[in-house]
Amino acid sequence: MYSDNELETLSKKLNKHLENQDKNWTSFIFSKNKKYYQSFLALNIDGERSTENRIKQYKLNSYLSHEKTALDIGCNSGFFSLIISDNLKKIDGVEINPFLIDMGNEVKQFINNTNCSFFVTSFEEYFSDKKYDLIFSLANDETIDGNTKFTFEEYIEKIFHLLLRNGILIFESQAADAYNKNKFKPKLEFLLEKFNILEERIVSSEYPINVPNRIFMILKKKT
Ligand SMILES: C[S@@+](CC[C@H](N)C(=O)[O-])C[C@H]1O[C@@H](n2cnc3c(N)ncnc32)[C@H](O)[C@@H]1O
Repeated sequence: MYSDNELETLSKKLNKHLENQDKNWTSFIFSKNKKYYQSFLALNIDGERSTENRIKQYKLNSYLSHEKTALDIGCNSGFFSLIISDNLKKIDGVEINPFLIDMGNEVKQFINNTNCSFFVTSFEEYFSDKKYDLIFSLANDETIDGNTKFTFEEYIEKIFHLLLRNGILIFESQAADAYNKNKFKPKLEFLLEKFNILEERIVSSEYPINVPNRIFMILKKKT
């Protein structure tokens, strides 16, 4: 779909953003090895985690439609948002690391995407007067970079208020919760106060390598 020349030009532009990130981002970078956390294979971009496999495993088809709006919390370089946006009316991504958003916007422009918007902000400080049909919380409720300031309860409360009536939370656990079920138990109890579980399964994860599986849930806001 894209010529080698076009992809080469994009890769050079993205490398500049990666260099800026390396020089200027003082927090932990989640993808030192493969450079990107999320892959975007149609653009020859490999990542620590395969966006394409994740989307297959999440089985989201019945939750996505061109009438629906979504929010992606901690959207990283935005490749997940951009790929899934084909099946949505609109998706907003919020991410605290501005260099990742630069990469997302670079790719957004390259693919001529018009229904995806990225915001450089912490989720804690994100303000929206919109409410969403879907919210993605993927590997994000607690982050090892120390940049998540919300407690789990505050995080889930904010999601609850940002969701429309009957809204859906698509939740993938962060790394430590996947191998320590006891750690996840109080989180699950709190989730169940606010949401009903529609689907629950274990999905595979390539990163970090000591965490081969994660808990994945599709939850519906209680009314
Ligand atoms: C483990 S990565 C997960 C990325 C993405 N959600 C995914 O699953 O592909 C965590 C991301 O959250 C971002 N982040 C950390 N604290 C944040 C905060 N308070 N608000 C928004 N983003 C945050 C990090 O910069 C990083 O991109």
